[in-house]
Amino acid sequence: MTTEICAVNSDSLAAAKKILQGGGVVAFPTETVYGLGGDARNDEAVQRIYQVKGRPSDNPLIVHIHSEFDLSSLVYDTPYAGRLRQAFLPGPLTLVYKSKNNVSKLVSCGLDTLAIRVPAHKGAQEFLRYVDMPIAAPSANLSKHISPVSAEHVYSDLNGKIPLILDGGICSGGIESTVCDVTGEFPVVLREGLVSKEMIESVAGKCEVYKFKEGEQARSPGMRYKHYAPRCATRLFEAGQIEEAKECFAENHRIGKKVYVLCEDRFKSNFPSDYVLNLGRTEYEIAANLYAELRKGEAVADLIIAIKPEKKDGIMAGVLNRLSKACANE
Ligand code: TXA
Ligand code: MG
Repeated sequence: MTTEICAVNSDSLAAAKKILQGGGVVAFPTETVYGLGGDARNDEAVQRIYQVKGRPSDNPLIVHIHSEFDLSSLVYDTPYAGRLRQAFLPGPLTLVYKSKNNVSKLVSCGLDTLAIRVPAHKGAQEFLRYVDMPIAAPSANLSKHISPVSAEHVYSDLNGKIPLILDGGICSGGIESTVCDVTGEFPVVLREGLVSKEMIESVAGKCEVYKFKEGEQARSPGMRYKHYAPRCATRLFEAGQIEEAKECFAENHRIGKKVYVLCEDRFKSNFPSDYVLNLGRTEYEIAANLYAELRKGEAVADLIIAIKPEKKDGIMAGVLNRLSKACANE
């Protein structure tokens, strides 16, 4: 199969709709990362998503809809969820509701809940409006690899496996949406992201971040898996371990390893500039650059030394979660 990359326009949208109606899958942009979408009502399409990614079949998918799509056709609402939608949608927040079971059972892997996202990206909204169906979509990378933030990233993972990539440029957000369960008395964040716990709290009054306990059934099955990993060795250091990171760099450099350092701008002067993967200065810049720099790094490095950013709360909680999963010391 040849994989075409096309800008989002009336021709490519018509082609995408035809593919989806036939049970196929297409990649599309969102403001977080690119998605690999199929008709959420079609078992065959959903099965194909898992197959193309090599994704474990017990890791549920998010359903994407446009702003005017009738949410009540898919899920049961919770009173405070309306306030969260009002405050943050369309945007990088996925809400997990009780499902009305009107999509393929394979989407939620047998759970009685359904995760719904309304992306803000202009191309995503155009796509979802044009096809006007609930689109099940994980990130458009091979399972366990770094999520894609450009059409080229999708192409390098899925070339030959899908017919079409809708190109909406580089994703401005850079990490996957916050996943928040709204089936209980108060919201529970299952995956941290660009809508922080603090932001949700400010609207809903109370919010907790779910912590997976060994031996318990995971509420967000995806969080169990090693994720987002680059295809080279990694070492992760705390912001307070610059000296150790410098030593690690020097040692590996000396023995001829191609070693690169992924760090925020304030730490870059500790390393030779040719070997720095710069995450930038602000929290939003750091989130936006994380996956792009990891992909750049894995293409050239034997080893990536990652240094955690100094700030830990707000949206940096999501960044730290991804960075730790990508660069876990093994
Ligand atoms: O930003 C994003 O969320 C991107 C774009 C494409 O929208 N999508 C994305 O999908 O990151 P994926 O499949 O890579 O991650 C979906 C996450 C997983 O951690 C999964 O376990 C969780 O959402 N999830 C999906 N449905 C769920 C459900 N019913 N209950 C609990 N967690 C759910
Ligand atoms: Mg993913």
